[in-house]
Amino acid sequence: MKTSGGSDAMKRRAGESAAETIEDGDVVGLGTGSTAAHAIRALGERVDAGVEIRGVATSFASRELAIEERIPLVDLDEVTGPDAAGVDVAIDGADQVAAGDLIKGGGGAHAREKLVDSTADRFVVVADPSKETAVLDRPVPVEVLASARGVVADAVRAADGEATLRRAERKDGPVVTDNGNLLLDCAFGTIPDPGTLVTTLAETPGVLEHGLFVGLADEVHVGTADGVRVLE
Ligand code: 5RP
Repeated sequence: MKTSGGSDAMKRRAGESAAETIEDGDVVGLGTGSTAAHAIRALGERVDAGVEIRGVATSFASRELAIEERIPLVDLDEVTGPDAAGVDVAIDGADQVAAGDLIKGGGGAHAREKLVDSTADRFVVVADPSKETAVLDRPVPVEVLASARGVVADAVRAADGEATLRRAERKDGPVVTDNGNLLLDCAFGTIPDPGTLVTTLAETPGVLEHGLFVGLADEVHVGTADGVRVLE
């Protein structure tokens, strides 16, 4: 799995710290990305040690890793709805963290991630210090219907942003998400009021999901050079 920014040892510390908080019997949302992958590996070790959990994957990549780690999987719709167990905890990475608000979707998995992370009773973010910032300012990944690409780019421009179609690194063509859609990375400069932008993006026809996660995180585990800082 691709590693973006930060030191891998710090990401591992964050992932392992979050995995330690999981209890026997928990249904656990399994995030996407290199930091969440460390948590999934640590959960695999706990499963080997006899802890009984069930995982809900947020992407094809996290599903594959969970299978490798022998973590039993369930679909989100098997554990949600009337009288269902629900998701106890979700552990997921982030591209940027500001006072608990996040930009996600560097791996293009933010639609399923938001579904699972927001459903969980407790959403634990795992990150390294390179993800921390005072104000969010990275481009916001937006998953769009293929035919809505131009419409959404126009709406982003009207909101003083600039949308760029995400292209595959080694292939000549756009990135296609696990859900079969396209991604626009939308630069707005600094985002001092992410809540307003959430409303703008959510009201734009053709937007399936965006990578702003505002007010969703319960804990942030930041792996550092010599330990883990937990922000609640
Ligand atoms: C995927 C994500 C990832 O969690 C985010 O990109 C962080 O990845 P990494 O831990 O590899 O830095 O949102 O859609």
